[in-house]
This record gives sequence, C-alpha cells and structure tokens, in this order.
Amino acid sequence: MHLTKKWTLEADGVEVHHEQTRATERLESLGPRWGATVLEARDAGDLWSLSGRFGRGSFPWHTDGAVSSRPPRWMVLRCTVDESSTPTEFLSLPADLLPELSRTMVTMTGRDGRKQRFAVATPVGGGAYKIRWDPRIGRVDSGTLEARIEALPVTFRVPWTEGATVIVDNHRLLHRRPEVEAGKRRLLTREYIGGANVGL
Ligand SMILES: [Fe+2]
Repeated sequence: MHLTKKWTLEADGVEVHHEQTRATERLESLGPRWGATVLEARDAGDLWSLSGRFGRGSFPWHTDGAVSSRPPRWMVLRCTVDESSTPTEFLSLPADLLPELSRTMVTMTGRDGRKQRFAVATPVGGGAYKIRWDPRIGRVDSGTLEARIEALPVTFRVPWTEGATVIVDNHRLLHRRPEVEAGKRRLLTREYIGGANVGL
C-alpha cells in the first residue's frame, strides 16, 4: 500500500488535492461536472443507496453507476465535515484477474427494476479495462467472484481532511467506505465527470 506517494490519475487512477484553486483547474481540464449529491453517514433507510442499505456499516467494493450504459468516468469527492477519521478505500484489480472479468457477465438491476447484462470488465484499449462492479445491484454468473473480490487487499487508503478533493477514475478503480463510528458526522459531496446518469 502507498501511504506517502503522491498519486496521479494517470499512474494510479486517483488524485488528492488540498488546494481549492488547483483542484478546480484540474476538474475543469477533465470536463463538466454533474450529479452533485451530499453523502452523509447515517442509519440505514432508503434501500437503493449504499448508505441507506448499509447505514454506518462498511460498504462492499463497487464502482459508481455500474448499471448505466455509460458509467461516469471520474468521480469527484469533496470533504465538508469529517469528525470520524473514516478514509475512503480504493482497489485496483489485479491485472491477471481482468481477462477473466472480461468473460464474466453481470446482470445489473436498475432502480426501475429493468435488468441489463454487461461484462464485468470491458477492454478499452492499451491494456486498460472499464470495470462495472456493484454486488448490491449486480449478480454475476461466477459464484465465487464476489467473495474473491471482497477478499482482495486495499490498494490505496485515502484519509480525509476537511476541504480535500479526491478525483477517482471510476472505470479503473473500485472503492468503498469502512464503518463510520456512531455519533460522528461525515459529509462528502460527490460529483461525476463523463458518462451519463442512465438508471442511476
Ligand atoms: Fe460509491
């Protein structure tokens, strides 16, 4: 795990900015942002959202918008309040797993109940793959894959400081949130760049 390295989108698929002007410049270079949502750790409720389903408990590894025909390319998280010291964790799938994932189909169920089948990993050229993974709404044909992915070790653990902006390649990395301690506030703003909100 890299703890002190400066991550870049190109090399690592994740980038952390602590300076607002630099963050804004970087985001503008990537394209228009959409879908601003405030994420707050809370008790379980709305079963569609991860925080509704899992409450303050840990989330499974996933990509955002996995049900969309065009999942968002970049996910932008900004920390407004963090009393909890809960990081966001990222997973870069092992290269030797990707060819298998490109042959594994997943059935995704959208919010409206419509089911669509996709490959878990779609080759996008240059040896890179676009990953769709969300065990909450996707069922894979391979019975062991979910457990195998859940068991993989964290690649990057990004700690939050208030005002920090994290940009993530949502096609390349999976992410999750560990458990948030009861009574602690944690507010992140999430936006996307690229892709579309089909079925999100
Ligand atoms: Fe997410």
